[in-house]
Amino acid sequence: MAKFPELAAKRVMVTGAASGIGYATAERFANEGAHVFLVDRDGAALSAAKGKHPGFKGSFVADVASEGDVKASFAAMDGLLGGIDVLVSNAGISVRSNFVDITYEQWKRVMDINLGGMFLTSREAAIRMKKQKAGVILMTASSNGTEGHRWYADYNASKAGVILLMKTMALELAPDVRVNCVCPGYVLTPMQRAEYTDEMLAATNEGIPMKRHAEPEEIGALYAFLASDDARYFTGADIRLDGGETAGLYS
Ligand SMILES: NC(=O)c1ccc[n+]([C@@H]2O[C@H](COP(=O)([O-])OP(=O)(O)OC[C@H]3O[C@@H](n4cnc5c(N)ncnc54)[C@H](O)[C@@H]3O)[C@@H](O)[C@H]2O)c1
Repeated sequence: MAKFPELAAKRVMVTGAASGIGYATAERFANEGAHVFLVDRDGAALSAAKGKHPGFKGSFVADVASEGDVKASFAAMDGLLGGIDVLVSNAGISVRSNFVDITYEQWKRVMDINLGGMFLTSREAAIRMKKQKAGVILMTASSNGTEGHRWYADYNASKAGVILLMKTMALELAPDVRVNCVCPGYVLTPMQRAEYTDEMLAATNEGIPMKRHAEPEEIGALYAFLASDDARYFTGADIRLDGGETAGLYS
């Protein structure tokens, strides 16, 4: 059931939409009646996702770290839907590594996708939204961007960068365009399952005040709220959705 009727027919791009948080967010916007355009670099997963909801109006295979791919995906969305009202820039990767084992190639790949991808997609969205004097840009950062977490130095630095990119854009684009990011804690997605055994998941859950990972749909629900009129005074905010993970100095 739609909770935010003003999202009906809004043109929404979600990146990293074939899996995890991105898919759940795309589905949530489609359930709100939005016209959703899915972007992902995984063509097979994207075409499987595309048919799953009538609100999924279009899709485009793109690497968000490629300027050409990003421009082409926005051009495709312009052609199909006539523009964009909401961007959820979400695609990202993580590689669990000891700091001393991070190669410069890995560092650059993580930065290019997690931070460069947010820059490229949000710049294309901002160009369009400034012209129409309206729009909402949302990004997936992480609690890894607000506190240090072992074994993810490159990822943490990229997510901290996303937070300050978001804040600077919010200053420049207000009052017409709102820009915010969500900092999820641990979310049970294929990304998380790829790097955590069942034992690691159980040990992590023990340390989270809410005693569990977030469901991807819980992140999608926050994105729908942030795009809605109820969130009209939200801009420049990095919003933690982490079950209390970062609430205390020592848990
Ligand atoms: N899972 C977590 O615990 C967690 C916590 C905080 C933040 N995040 C962030 O949430 C976002 C989504 O993560 P998820 O857990 O849903 O992961 P996921 O691996 O389930 O989904 C990520 C999707 O992004 C796509 N993708 C990856 N690189 C891409 C690229 N260069 N271009 C286009 N698409 C690309 C993948 O193909 C995949 O479909 C990421 O930015 C991640 O850093 C995840």
